[in-house]
Amino acid sequence: MSTTLAFDVYGTLIDTHGIVSTLQHLIGNQARAFSQTWRDKQLEYSFRRGLMENYQTFAICTSQALDYACTYYQVDLTVEQKRLLLESYRTLPAFADAQEALTELNAAGYRMFAFSNGTADAVENLLTAAKLRNFFHGVVSVDDLKSFKPNPAVYCHFLRQSGASGAQAWLISSNPFDIIGAISAGMRAAWVRRASEAVYDPWGIEPTLTVESLSELREHIEI
Ligand code: 2OP
Repeated sequence: MSTTLAFDVYGTLIDTHGIVSTLQHLIGNQARAFSQTWRDKQLEYSFRRGLMENYQTFAICTSQALDYACTYYQVDLTVEQKRLLLESYRTLPAFADAQEALTELNAAGYRMFAFSNGTADAVENLLTAAKLRNFFHGVVSVDDLKSFKPNPAVYCHFLRQSGASGAQAWLISSNPFDIIGAISAGMRAAWVRRASEAVYDPWGIEPTLTVESLSELREHIEI
């Protein structure tokens, strides 16, 4: 069986800061910082809900994190403006390297899956809107387990669902917590370092591979 690639979605294939231009119209030059706080809180809420075993979908984490960011930045958005922002979040853009790199990897014969904190429905919509869905054998969501990355159970779930063993399966992610989670669960993992200022967690659990763009994966990961 050929090598299995599990692509993280938000932040790896899909640009969560693709919302900044919409935010700029609403809140001006705080948009970038607001977007970062929104994303950081969204992830924090998923970690905390996982630990507390108090699951709500990633979309709920996103919505509650938006409310938090509005309060933090003292931005008074109407219910309709929040609804439109959350609607835009369902159709965020792909990163510029995604289309070409996935085309190449797909043609080379890797078994490719999307593996995300998002529900299968949300991920299907997102990838379809970004014209990436056809590259994947399937979508695996943590929602099946009602938990979140980096719970080791969700990486085991991915391996069972994809029928791959840890040694044959790579997580591809820009999120260091996801890389450390996957390696700890016995997978290989490629960290996509999307910005030179991105910092990797100093836990002594290193990525199998570090790349700056998805287009570098083909030459480094054996089929
Ligand atoms: C995802 O699972 C972690 O946001 C990331 O798509």
